[in-house]
Amino acid sequence: MLEIKNLHAEIDGKKILNGLTLTVADGEVAAIMGPNGSGKSTLSYVISGRAGYEVTEGEVLLDGVDLLQLDASERAAKGVFLAFQYPLEIPGVTTMTFLKASLNAQRKARGEAALSTPEFMKRVRAGADKLGVAQDMLRRALNVGFSGGEKKRMEILQMALLEPKFAILDETDSGLDIDALRIVSEGVNALRSPHRGFLVITHYQRLLDYIVPDRVHVMSAGRIVKTGGKDLALELEKTGYAGYIGEAA
Ligand SMILES: Nc1ncnc2c1ncn2[C@@H]1O[C@H](COP(=O)(O)OP(=O)(O)OP(=O)(O)O)[C@@H](O)[C@H]1O
Ligand SMILES: [Mg+2]
Repeated sequence: MLEIKNLHAEIDGKKILNGLTLTVADGEVAAIMGPNGSGKSTLSYVISGRAGYEVTEGEVLLDGVDLLQLDASERAAKGVFLAFQYPLEIPGVTTMTFLKASLNAQRKARGEAALSTPEFMKRVRAGADKLGVAQDMLRRALNVGFSGGEKKRMEILQMALLEPKFAILDETDSGLDIDALRIVSEGVNALRSPHRGFLVITHYQRLLDYIVPDRVHVMSAGRIVKTGGKDLALELEKTGYAGYIGEAA
């Protein structure tokens, strides 16, 4: 279970998160929607431990463990995974090498033995096939020159291999064509499990037709201002955020 209590965070002296409280139970898919600049990506960075953000108040607990005391790699080892809104390009590191290093680091953290190269290759190839990731992309430098949609699929391939405890998807649907949206959603749905929580950040109700959320939260000005069921996303599609932004102010 992920528990966020009264979280306040800032970057470069600018307050972005202003008392955010949110709980995501194991097995739950929570969607977060909200206007541009409301702090959704910032929340994903603060949970995953990206450098540069200062938490001034509040708590982030995963299964009772205080994530704020851990650095980003320790959080990853605890099973926190973030699929970036803007996946990073890593020149000089092939995708295959990156995937193998991250998977084996994760296995080590879980007390499992490293995979042999043939076993690893088998898993990556199977995962790549399912997500429509071309095999030749695995030999290229990670994300370098990948199209927007290819980068998003690669994030989901990483997630599928790592089998995280808690996964955050930051606008994974943006830039995906219609077929890719379905393929990527199937990839996410295949990972849904009573032992795993998801935070799915999106602007579009359409994604939530494929990945049906248990709860929908509306974020505005660094706080959750409304929580509802999946129908809340449909309602927002019609009404926009105007009614909720007022509640935050
Ligand atoms: N380094 C920084 N210095 C100052 N302000 C910043 C910095 N980084 C982010 N911000 C501001 O924090 C606010 C929240 O940004 P964030 O990326 O979390 O929004 P978001 O909800 O993810 O928006 P979007 O829907 O457009 O992805 C924005 O107003 C942004 O300009
Ligand atoms: Mg964002």
